[in-house]
Amino acid sequence: MTPVTNSIKSLFPIFSNHPALVYLDNAATSQKPKSVIQSVIDYYEKENANVHRGLYKLSSSATTRYEEVRNKVAKLIGASDPNSISFTKGTTESINVVAHGFLKKLLMAGDSVVISGMEHHANLIPWQQVCKEKKALLRIIPVDGDGNLDLSTLDSLLTTNTRLLAITHISNVLGTINPIEEIISCAHKKNIPVLIDAAQSAGHYPIDIKNLDADFLVFSAHKMFGPLGAGVLFSLEKYRNQIEPLNYGGGAIKNVEFDHTEFLEYPHNLEAGTPNISGVIGLGEAIDFIQSLDMKSSILYTNELMIYFKEKLNSLPFVKPFGNPVKSGSIVSFQVKNVHPHDVAGFLGNVNIAVRAGHHCAQPLLESLGVPSTVRVSFAIYNTKEDVDRTISALIDLKKFWS
Ligand SMILES: Cc1ncc(COP(=O)(O)O)c(C=O)c1O
Repeated sequence: MTPVTNSIKSLFPIFSNHPALVYLDNAATSQKPKSVIQSVIDYYEKENANVHRGLYKLSSSATTRYEEVRNKVAKLIGASDPNSISFTKGTTESINVVAHGFLKKLLMAGDSVVISGMEHHANLIPWQQVCKEKKALLRIIPVDGDGNLDLSTLDSLLTTNTRLLAITHISNVLGTINPIEEIISCAHKKNIPVLIDAAQSAGHYPIDIKNLDADFLVFSAHKMFGPLGAGVLFSLEKYRNQIEPLNYGGGAIKNVEFDHTEFLEYPHNLEAGTPNISGVIGLGEAIDFIQSLDMKSSILYTNELMIYFKEKLNSLPFVKPFGNPVKSGSIVSFQVKNVHPHDVAGFLGNVNIAVRAGHHCAQPLLESLGVPSTVRVSFAIYNTKEDVDRTISALIDLKKFWS
């Protein structure tokens, strides 16, 4: 098992500050490389000014840096037009923009929105809320016992009254990689637009929006080595002038009078107020970092770690793993029999192993698995085989301690 680069860990300052740390909560947020942290510091120390407003050099260079990131994000996902990219606070906000700013006005009583049974609450509640308001139906693609979507139901769920399909690329609980190409093409045959929640895949898996043909794609910088509080909404051109902002205010207008405002066009109309400039600049740096790696090797490497971990985990008779998807990212959920997941996470935390326990913001999925919570381990490129060995041996210790 060859790491992506031998010195990858040394690029992440958190590990020199916490040499004993085994960080396995990457699905919640990734650690940040020095280059990303430094880009945020540099912005504040050397370049701090507001964007789009000042006529002085600092402001125009902040604007250039901010706008350049639109280009980088577009390139990362294979979009030809940087203006397809709107900056948001993150995946949650991007989905809310589409739900409230786009879908709500199209939805009529009796219409439907289709999601899957494995969605993060961020890709469930906004649709649930607009459906309630408009007396529309939220319909669910079921998940089978292995954690795969039951796509035999898709054709009948997508009807002439379906206004949108919103689906996660990768499950943040079971790691399932959904066949989104197939799902999108099925929806498009019925002229139904599709939103892809790429929170767990962007920056880690190749996304080519042209091949994928998704109508909307959303993700967060912080899960792909970037800063907190910055995210992306990609929209196909045909919808852009139909999306209304969640926020109104300065920076998003052409002309304002007391009885009327003329707005800028997408994406700028959605970015009212001072944006998270340093966060966006850090996102650009995170993309540079990702592009300095070989994505294929990174996927192979984290996949090998996941398989190695699963094999070891399956050899422990006191562990109950959840899900066995056909295609899986590097996220694994399990329980230790007779020990509450929070106690497992607390025990591991005491020996410097950071994992997540709970419902992972996917309560309906957990409900279908028949449990209120699991322990979740999620890998990134800086994890190692030793991290797995330490976790497995801590689980063995935990079992001895608990029985
Ligand atoms: C699949 C998925 N969707 C959406 C989100 C929400 O992301 P954020 O909290 O960055 O808005 C997450 C976060 O864990 C996620 O895993």
